[in-house]
Amino acid sequence: MKLIYGRPPAVFDPPAEATQTSPLIPGSAALEEIAPGSADLAMIYAPPGALERRAVLAHALRALKPGGRLDAMAPKDKGGSRLKKELEGFGLTVVDEPKAHHRRCRATMDSPLTGLDEAIEAGAARQVSDTGLWSRPGVFAWDRIDAGTATLALQLPPMKGVGADLGCGVGVLSLAVLTSEAVTALTGIDLDRRAVEAARLNVTDPRAAFEWADARTLPASGDMDFVVMNPPFHDGGQEDRHLGQAFVRKAAELLKKGGTLWMVANRHLPYEADLNAAFRRVRVVEESAGYKVFEATK
Ligand SMILES: C[S@@+](CC[C@H](N)C(=O)[O-])C[C@H]1O[C@@H](n2cnc3c(N)ncnc32)[C@H](O)[C@@H]1O
Repeated sequence: MKLIYGRPPAVFDPPAEATQTSPLIPGSAALEEIAPGSADLAMIYAPPGALERRAVLAHALRALKPGGRLDAMAPKDKGGSRLKKELEGFGLTVVDEPKAHHRRCRATMDSPLTGLDEAIEAGAARQVSDTGLWSRPGVFAWDRIDAGTATLALQLPPMKGVGADLGCGVGVLSLAVLTSEAVTALTGIDLDRRAVEAARLNVTDPRAAFEWADARTLPASGDMDFVVMNPPFHDGGQEDRHLGQAFVRKAAELLKKGGTLWMVANRHLPYEADLNAAFRRVRVVEESAGYKVFEATK
């Protein structure tokens, strides 16, 4: 069996027939559930956060057979320059090569490894003491409440009827929405399986359900009363305003006529044109601390 984690650039020849294990690709297998000692190869496009990356590498190593090969790479400035040391720290002999602004590290499982359990534990799901919420390294703002989210939560009026939380993360906005008894159903959607799993633990209200999916692919139901969101503006670590703009258009497609979108965004992000094109009325409700809160009515 061959495993792949994420989407390494084509220059690394990712094996086409490998089992995808990234939590950011809906439908993928969970790396942590791959049977130990079962894989011949693991190609890991290592994530940028150190705790997350070390846990992913440790899970991949645990999944490899003796003699199995690890092929891990990351952009130099997003953890790549630390990969070799991290892998050597597990007791591996590592061949390291610069390639296409990345570092690529290859190693064979041939020696007893150390520190895997600790790395896995440090990247595992837990209840964060500051927030009281379930989360884990790698999830958006995993150990704090994002300031933009907090700004929106403060402005939200009581919602009514059926709605969605697009890019719900661990469920912070969902919890705010569900304080209104007039909400009858809420669907939270996130691309990150780890966030969805945490949201299910954090939001146990029976009116809420969470889906692991790309919000951009949701059917345009046109039947919702409200949408709340703090849309993503990074894709693969790069700022990508098209992602947020696609969320704005999708929110409009989900809403019925007269339905309302409540959204927060960094002030510098250009969402006004898309909001004005997709909604009948757009109002800036609050502008502070670098954020803008919009109410948009379809
Ligand atoms: C700015 S964060 C907001 C998270 C959460 N709502 C909060 O306020 O803490 C954006 C979220 O969108 C998710 N996301 C990114 N791309 C997505 C997509 N295409 N479909 C669904 N969710 C996505 C990210 O995983 C992240 O959890």
